[in-house]
Amino acid sequence: MTVWLVGAGPGDPGLITVRGQALVRNCDVLIHDRLVSPELVAQASGALIVSRDGREQEEINRMLVELGRKGLEVVRLKGGDPFVYGRGGEEAIALAEAGVPFEVVPGVSSLAAVPAAAGIPLTHRGVSAGVRVYSGRTAEASGETVLVFMGLHELARVCDDLVAEGFDPSTPAAVISRGTLPDQEVVVAELGELAAAAEEVSAPALVVVGEVVSLRDRLLAGVLQESAV
Ligand SMILES: C[S@@+](CC[C@H](N)C(=O)[O-])C[C@H]1O[C@@H](n2cnc3c(N)ncnc32)[C@H](O)[C@@H]1O
Repeated sequence: MTVWLVGAGPGDPGLITVRGQALVRNCDVLIHDRLVSPELVAQASGALIVSRDGREQEEINRMLVELGRKGLEVVRLKGGDPFVYGRGGEEAIALAEAGVPFEVVPGVSSLAAVPAAAGIPLTHRGVSAGVRVYSGRTAEASGETVLVFMGLHELARVCDDLVAEGFDPSTPAAVISRGTLPDQEVVVAELGELAAAAEEVSAPALVVVGEVVSLRDRLLAGVLQESAV
């Protein structure tokens, strides 16, 4: 009795997650993006199928809230990962603010999968130490999110470097340890305070820096499992 924001993966229907596929197969209503594989859509054999095509985002948000309130099992199937240029955050906030429980089922994003499928590793020792991700639609927003892999052991230096690069020390930031696992731990603090706040956190951990971190409170109001966000 909820709404699931499910990542369908980058294109190949075999690249949806096991959980995502089970939800698609058992839902009452499937609302899918145009680029989602028809093979995946066909697996929702008992469901009412709705295409996102030609509908405004606000209409989709309203549909998710209304269907969720009716107690239906609703899968919102989105290309790649719902939270990477997928407007999944907007749908999650609409559901949370309406008090409709939801869960996010991450997907394999084209971010790493598409270059990999073309034989291009995103990082390579001795060649590339980082990745920059931008939207071609620059009007969407001006802010940026910084992700730091393997940053826990030198967190104070990592945060200082970001401040030296121009990040305001008050920028919202988080350290997420053992993400998606039952003992996931999330420490949120301003960038300037993050190293002290996350002193006790254990590896593996990802550091996230940017205003998106402050959306977390709004999303968690409606989420079923914190570990799924
Ligand atoms: C609106 S964004 C959605 C991204 C998606 N949420 C993700 O995590 O991959 C759509 C853009 O992702 C990229 N993209 C998604 N799937 C792709 C694929 N199979 N091959 C190449 N690019 C792809 C393209 O740049 C496309 O314009």
